[in-house]
Formats: sequence, C-alpha cells, structure tokens
Amino acid sequence: MEAFGYREGELFAEGTAVRDLADRYGTPLYVYSRNHLRQRYRALADAMAAIQPLICYSVKANSNGAVIRTFLEEGAGLDIVSGGELYRARRAGADPARVVFAGVGKTRAEIEYALREGILFFTVESEAEAARIAACARGLNTTGRIAFRVNPDVDPSTHTYMTTGKKENKFGLDLERTRRAYETAAGLDGLEIVGLHMHIGSQILDVRPFAAALEKVAGLCRELREAYPAFRYLDLGGGLGIRYRPDDAPPEPAAFARAVGPAVHALGLSVVMEPGRFLTGNAGLLVCRVQYIKENALKTFVVTDAAMNDLIRPSLYEAHHEILPVTRREGTVYGDLVGPVCESGDFLARERELPRVAEGDLLAVGSAGAYGFTMASTYNSRPRPAEVMVDGEESWVVRDRETWEDLVRGER
Ligand SMILES: Cc1ncc(COP(=O)(O)O)c(C=O)c1O
Repeated sequence: MEAFGYREGELFAEGTAVRDLADRYGTPLYVYSRNHLRQRYRALADAMAAIQPLICYSVKANSNGAVIRTFLEEGAGLDIVSGGELYRARRAGADPARVVFAGVGKTRAEIEYALREGILFFTVESEAEAARIAACARGLNTTGRIAFRVNPDVDPSTHTYMTTGKKENKFGLDLERTRRAYETAAGLDGLEIVGLHMHIGSQILDVRPFAAALEKVAGLCRELREAYPAFRYLDLGGGLGIRYRPDDAPPEPAAFARAVGPAVHALGLSVVMEPGRFLTGNAGLLVCRVQYIKENALKTFVVTDAAMNDLIRPSLYEAHHEILPVTRREGTVYGDLVGPVCESGDFLARERELPRVAEGDLLAVGSAGAYGFTMASTYNSRPRPAEVMVDGEESWVVRDRETWEDLVRGER
C-alpha cells in the first residue's frame, strides 16, 4: 500500500484528505501513515523469515515515540546512537534486551545508562571505546556485551555523506584492526564478546555491496565464532534504500534476503538488522503552504512556510524529494521551492518543474518520513512543525507544534 495518493485530484494520506489535516493542524506539518509503517516492517520481516533476524528499527530515522511504538508493537527491537535515544526507546516501552547501541562517541554517562538498563550489546567503534565500556561495566559490577564495528571498505554507491563503510570514513575498524581489537578486548575484565557489526552506508539501491561486505567479513566471523564462546550475532546494519524519485528502483526486501541469505546461513549466526529509512522514509510527508510567488529573470521562486530548518536533506545532501500539489492543478512552473530562512542554501527543490500554484495553496514534500523531523532545527528562531499520525480516516497529533515560548525555554 502506498501511504499517499490522489482521489479525484485531492491528495490523501490513507483515508484522510491532506487538505483537512493542514486546515486542522496548520502548516508546516509532518504527516505519517501508520499502516505504511506497519506494512514496511512486515514486508521486511516476511522476506527475511528464513533468517529470522532481530529487526532493530534505527531510531535516528524518525524518533517520534508514536513511530517507535508502532514498530515495537510489530515485534521490533531498536538501534540507538545516544543516551537520548535510549531514553526515548524506554519511554516508548522498548525491552532493553532488544536494543543495540551504535556510535563513535559514546560518553561514560551514556555507557553507564545503557549498562544499567541491560541493553543487548554495544556496537563498538574503537579499542578505546571497548576499554571505556569495560571500565564502566566493572564500576557497575556488570558485564558489557560488545560487537566491534568492522569497516569492510566497500563502495555502496550512495552520497558521500551517506557512505560509512569505506576506509576513509570515521566509522568502524578495518579487518586487521578489528581482529586485533577483539584480542585486546578479550583480555579486559567486564566485557563479553557477542558479535560483529557493520553498516556500510545509507540509501543503498543495489544489494551487491551488502553481499560484497558480507563476503569480506565471513572469514573473520568464523574465526570469532571459534575463539569466543558467546559470539553469536552478526549485525548487518541498515542502509536499504527507498524510492525518492519515481524512477528510483530500490531493491525489494526479497532481493536483499537472496543476496545475504546463503552467506548468513552458512555462518550459522543470529542476524540483527538496523533499518531506518526503509521503514519510515515513504511513510511521511511535509505539508507546507505557499506564501509568495516571486520571479526573477531566470526562474520562479515558490516561497513556502517550510524551510531547510524543517527538512534539511535537500540542502545537506542535494537530496531529491518529490513535490506534490495537495490539490492537483493544470500546468507547471520552472524554478525553486524555497523557505523563509536567510540562506541561499534554503531550498526544498531546486531548478525543477514544480506544480503551478498560487499564494495560499498547499504543497507536500514526499519521502519525508526519515531524517526529516529528526534533523529539524529551530534555526532563524522557527519553531519546529507539528507531527501527526494518520490511521485510515483517523488522525492525531503525535508531537505538538513548537511555540515561541518553546524557543526560549531554558535560556537565562
Ligand atoms: C549504525 C547505523 N545503523 C543503522 C542506520 C540506519 O540507516 P538507514 O536509515 O539507511 O537504514 C544508520 C544510519 O546512519 C547507522 O549509522
């Protein structure tokens, strides 16, 4: 099921007219489809049924508690990258024993919090971090379960900022260093070696890099399984891409399962996955209202009430998001869709054929469910948008629109 579609020229989110949502909750507005979230999770779980992975939803993609809870209800675990995400996970009702904790810069306070909660394992980015986890665990009289993050040095053919598994990236350790890191960690009290982790990048549209990475680490997995009795998890990370443009051809979950299945079966390890964008990206829209139409000698600027602070992906990654009229109209106009922020980099779409709109019309930015609200800021003192969840013909606010008072809360 597509989350969003037209009925007699009007854009609908499931069974609810987007126009009604904008009128009721105001703009800019993030809109999420609950059934799309569920279906994406089920599609992945079904395709991977033979492998029975623990699917840990990557909370950074969309951290709203209602989104997290939707996946928890489906049986998901969670992938977190900060103490704040662990707090959100716990607040949404997650079982800590199904939470994995990634990230290159975990602080002592974050590690101790995760140890006290009893998470499944830390994915560890350096020997120094392993030593810190060991010290924290000893201090708390407990054991830290760890999986080193290996950097397999494969090219996932995605945007440079979304590549994480090449040797020039800050993430993980190369194969040889990983081997040594395990040996060092094995000598530390307070640690239990339980797995190996990798995450090669995001928005990957080809399954071959996943298979290539797996091939590179398979030998190491076998060695680790022999060497460490508690070694049982292979965490494949996230990265499965989605359709941003109509002609994008992201891999079906079944193709992913076929690409990794044989190698994973041969290893006989329990698989963990950390999908984020795949689960939430196309479950979200950012709805905005046109404020002005402005023309110069070269093009038209459609100025809306949403800006780069609400959705930074176009400015940060030159990411393409479809721009949909909330009410279909004849004709297009060539130009940029921009916001009110005082930056030339403030655009949601650039040099594109945009729907022909007039002041007051509504537009929707597609594929905004992942790395949308979570990357939003209050730059230019713009309160962050409200978020609403739609389920059929029902909708409800899952995060209030911020107010001007919210902007100054905590300031002295
Ligand atoms: C370690 C790790 N796991 C999972 C993810 C989720 O990636 P995606 O949203 O591409 O599935 C990320 C994204 O940065 C990550 O760094």
